[in-house]
Amino acid sequence: MTDRTEHDQGVIDQRQAFALGVCYYPEHWPRDRWEGYARRMKELGLDYVRIAEFAWSRMEPEPGRYDWGWLDDAIETLAAEGLKVVLCTPTATPPAWLVRAHPEILPVDAEGRVREFGSRKHYDHASPVYRRHSRRITEAIAGRYGGHPAVVGWQTDNEFGCHGTTRSYGPAAQDAFRGWLEARYGTLAALNDAWGAVFWSQEYSAWDQILPPNLTVTEPNPSHVLDFARFASDMVVEFQAEQVAILRRLSPGRWITHNFMQWFPDFDHYRAAEGLDFASWDSYPVGVVERSELPEAEKIRWVRTGHPDLIGFNHDLYRGLLGRKRGCWVMEQQAGQVNWASSNPLPAAGAVALWTAQAYAHGCDIVSYFRWRAATVAQELMHSGLLRHDETLDRGGEEVAGLELSGRPNAEVATPVVLLHDYESLWAYDEQSHSAGASYWAQLLLFYTALRSLGVDVDIRHPEQDLAGYAVVVAPAVQLVGVERAAHLEAAVAAGARLVVGPRVGYRTPTGRVHEAGQPGPLAPLLGCVLRNFDGMRPGLATRVGGHEVTVWTESYVLREGAATHRYEDGPLAGEAAVVRHGNATTVGAWSSGLVREVLASVLAEAGVETLDLPEGVRRSRRGGLVTWMNFDQAPATLPDGTVLGPVSFEVRPG
Ligand code: GAL
Repeated sequence: MTDRTEHDQGVIDQRQAFALGVCYYPEHWPRDRWEGYARRMKELGLDYVRIAEFAWSRMEPEPGRYDWGWLDDAIETLAAEGLKVVLCTPTATPPAWLVRAHPEILPVDAEGRVREFGSRKHYDHASPVYRRHSRRITEAIAGRYGGHPAVVGWQTDNEFGCHGTTRSYGPAAQDAFRGWLEARYGTLAALNDAWGAVFWSQEYSAWDQILPPNLTVTEPNPSHVLDFARFASDMVVEFQAEQVAILRRLSPGRWITHNFMQWFPDFDHYRAAEGLDFASWDSYPVGVVERSELPEAEKIRWVRTGHPDLIGFNHDLYRGLLGRKRGCWVMEQQAGQVNWASSNPLPAAGAVALWTAQAYAHGCDIVSYFRWRAATVAQELMHSGLLRHDETLDRGGEEVAGLELSGRPNAEVATPVVLLHDYESLWAYDEQSHSAGASYWAQLLLFYTALRSLGVDVDIRHPEQDLAGYAVVVAPAVQLVGVERAAHLEAAVAAGARLVVGPRVGYRTPTGRVHEAGQPGPLAPLLGCVLRNFDGMRPGLATRVGGHEVTVWTESYVLREGAATHRYEDGPLAGEAAVVRHGNATTVGAWSSGLVREVLASVLAEAGVETLDLPEGVRRSRRGGLVTWMNFDQAPATLPDGTVLGPVSFEVRPG
């Protein structure tokens, strides 16, 4: 996939040393506070300030009448303190006048209801009218500030897809979807074949018979759903690309990023990152535990610190979107309680500092806290900031003030282990997960957590990105496998990598059909086995393999050239192969954290990758010549060398 340019390497090199920033809304505060705030930001050790992502109604109060005075002033006030400004296109919040003049830009939900003005993200990415206004406001802001010396970079929009807005089902999306399908398939015969539309008489004889896959009587055709997900993802990609082209033209020498969300499934982030200089993400560790699939007891355990791997996965994902080993940015770092989970506990003392250290250790160049001062108005007035409502430094702000960051070069994270992830497999998997406990993210996490608990740093790559140099390639849930993808994996193994795949790898073709020869389709020669049976286990059912408990999912294999290293001990698949080894390829068919960890540990050992046995709350990450040890538990932890790390804390050592 994408190789980055020299231009972008130069851009990255401006950020040689780890630094901090903050999200700030000057338009929320009286003018007489601005100088004092800029001074205090600087005193706190902040270098970057992100502004203006929701400020369209102040930039253009009436159609075509721009008011830049306040924004000029805000930027100058920050610049006067030597702060660097990250400016945003304000398209996450089209103003009321625009929505009322063009209600057709509003998104429509899967139930067919218009999603109204009154919060944010109220637009359909496919709307040609909104696209025009998005380009217009981007030209206006980039034309005014593109060359400003204090403006060092841009953020497009805010959190694409937030609040379930990737997929819209109204007339704009319907029209665009048909056009997209025609361009993809050329003929209806090809589309009907790709989707298997003969099933339930779903065959189409004219393009205008096709609608998005919502409001169907029972479940829609999964290939239809897969293509609608691809289409909606492409609309996000196109929407952003139009802004990026304008920013490149009008703001030369500045970098462009986007603040992606944690664990966000709805669009292809690899494709969305392609035009950017680097990816950013918004890290809310407490909120994400509350919304996770963790069991209740685990949620209580981690809700004040965040779960190390629920955070770490996102760092590794976003660092690697463009195939890189460093350079991502946390654009919004939780610095106190959030307002949007079902409950919003305070983070433990030390957590904000720990999250910052973890971000550095996983390859981030900058951490920018959300937000400067807690809002005194509107939807987020229950949310924390670095400053409390009364402008005193809040708990998170005090931790930031106490951070010692000198001597942290923004080096690469160099690891011989890569985990493969792609959004098309995710969409196919979650449309037909077939077992109450199974989900794409959960299956990925099963393997990711095993690797992290073995003390191993992990790169995350798309299965078609360059895999050269990796000693171990782990593909937990690459469900869509065509001949090219299979050839790419074969080449990696031929070049010396060891490959470990999880359940249902290669189950489907790229259009979402099952391979005529069954799972794993074109991977069969490499894996040395084919699927025999799978068992989607309801909660409460369990079986055993190699002494490990297995729940959620089991599948067994017919051996070809491969040999079984583990067999099911009981249940309907008793005696059948659960883990198959063929040369340097290993297939694991049982959903078991113990078994996955055992298999990975032995493959890593063969590959010469050092492993450790870390307690659950302890993680280790190496970046450049520094090793960061982190303890996410609220009790002291003993490290493998016998030293003790205090609760919710970290230590950086040479190594
Ligand atoms: C983010 C969003 C911010 C703010 C924050 C609150 O998802 O980008 O604008 O709403 O959540 O935690």
